[in-house]
Amino acid sequence: MDETPSWSRATLRRADFARRVVGVMSEAVLVVNAELNIVTANDFAFSLFGYSREHLVGASFANLFPQAAMWLVSKLGPTDVAGDEVACERADGQTIPLAIALSILPEDKSKRSYVVVLRDLTAVHRLAAQLSTAKAELTERASDLAIEVDRRRQVEKELREAKDGVERRLEETRRQLLRTERLATLGTLAGGVGHELKNVAMIQQLCVDEARDLVDDGTLDREFLRQLEAVDEHLVNHANRLLNLARPGPDYAEPMDLRAVIMDTLEILDGSGRTKYIPIRTKLPDTPLMVRVNRARIEQILINLVGNAVDAIAGQEEQQIRVMAALSADGERVACEVGDTGPGIAPDKLECIFDPFFTTKPPDRGTGLGLPVVRQIVASYGSELSVYSVVGMGTVFSFDLPTA
Ligand SMILES: Nc1ncnc2c1ncn2[C@@H]1O[C@H](COP(=O)(O)OP(=O)(O)OP(=O)(O)O)[C@@H](O)[C@H]1O
Ligand SMILES: [Mg+2]
Repeated sequence: MDETPSWSRATLRRADFARRVVGVMSEAVLVVNAELNIVTANDFAFSLFGYSREHLVGASFANLFPQAAMWLVSKLGPTDVAGDEVACERADGQTIPLAIALSILPEDKSKRSYVVVLRDLTAVHRLAAQLSTAKAELTERASDLAIEVDRRRQVEKELREAKDGVERRLEETRRQLLRTERLATLGTLAGGVGHELKNVAMIQQLCVDEARDLVDDGTLDREFLRQLEAVDEHLVNHANRLLNLARPGPDYAEPMDLRAVIMDTLEILDGSGRTKYIPIRTKLPDTPLMVRVNRARIEQILINLVGNAVDAIAGQEEQQIRVMAALSADGERVACEVGDTGPGIAPDKLECIFDPFFTTKPPDRGTGLGLPVVRQIVASYGSELSVYSVVGMGTVFSFDLPTA
């Protein structure tokens, strides 16, 4: 650094010390006089700004570094200041960011000089830029990660739902298997019962023959014989049905008027005492309802459904059973329904009523096989047994049959 020759030895020693310190600093140190001309500068200042000593020393600070000079003028107070940032142009025209600090030289009060220290912030700025890029990247990755976590959660949820669905279907299949197995066992048992029943029917047949003679004699009422014959026919039909259950194959179906089957079945039920004193309303058209079915099977459906209705209305204030049949709008099927004013079926029970052996009746009154069998018969005619029930109001079972 340049020095002033009029200073004392002590001052010179201090100046020498200061020069050495300033010489090794990695900040540019400029001494600027009251006219804002550069009086002296350290080596780092030359390399930072790219000016030679001749160019920098003696030059106007304000001309070379206008922004720094403006800052300097604004800070020319009694105390030192530091910490602001200015931009200065280097000799090669490149503008660099600098941290600027100012110290007022105390020696000469009349002719003040200022020490301006400038630290290059290029690297700091670069680091700050890198940091903000890294931050932005991090934010982006964090949001990508959040999206990925969401996606995984969604996939997990879907997997869980799929698993639940499979388990539900498995459970349903298991239940169906159980039903099928029970019905198969039942089929075998039914075969045996059918065989026995047929033997009984044969004995009854003999009785009917005897009774026929008594009618001819005038000892027995003809109507009684007619009922006896109907019961016998019913018995034979059922025995065959039961045998057929064990020996699966298509039932013999023939055209018949469903109205007649309904009326005959109701008569059998009445004759058996099952529906005595119970008002059964029928709603049937005036013209024949021709269906192609197996008579015994239809009787079986009606006996079971009306039997359930009879049990349902027992003890009810309003006791009514309705049996209706009508041709469907397209003339392809004949719809049939059995309704009652019973207590209705609660929704949780409604799910089970078609399960074999589900019954709410005491063991001596119900086995829980009526509805599963009816459902199977109805299904064999390409229909479905539907139930509509309102608790406290009643229940309606409906199905349809193919026309002849
Ligand atoms: N019309 C109805 N009103 C109210 N509940 C009914 C009706 N029909 C059926 N149920 C309910 O469905 C159950 C099953 O009926 P299903 O005919 O299969 O067997 P069940 O009548 O109990 O015995 P089974 O018919 O073998 O003698 C009945 O126990 C009853 O709880
Ligand atoms: Mg029943």
